[in-house]
Amino acid sequence: MSDYDALIAAAAQSRENAHAAYSNFRVGAALRATSGRIFGGCNVENATYGLTICAERVAIFKAISEGERGFDAIAVVADTDSLTPPCGACRQLIWEFCGDIPVILGNLKGKIEVLRMRELFPKPFDASNL
Ligand code: THU
Repeated sequence: MSDYDALIAAAAQSRENAHAAYSNFRVGAALRATSGRIFGGCNVENATYGLTICAERVAIFKAISEGERGFDAIAVVADTDSLTPPCGACRQLIWEFCGDIPVILGNLKGKIEVLRMRELFPKPFDASNL
């Protein structure tokens, strides 16, 4: 059992709550704070499409709004053979709040890949640029 099994399970559980009425593409995420707390998120779509928010950002905003700062891993689970990585907007947010953490991608068949944020987002714009 890997260190990430609980995080992947939490992401898969959150995926069950996805509101993906337009794309039918259900995604779950789980963000682990250095406190040990795990925050789940799912994608929440909207009839305007553009107001849709991804699972990763829901998890991040839940954690930040609960007062958490400092995170050490995030898992993303979708029902795809080719694992689903965070979109560009989510990469920006993960970098801002979590830095170079491991991003654990998983699917419902147990396939897993672990990437670092540095690989996914090699040249970020962030507070150091301001
Ligand atoms: N989506 C996520 O929630 N996370 C990702 O990593 C990729 C995409 C959502 C957004 C939208 O509701 C649906 O998947 C299709 O793009």
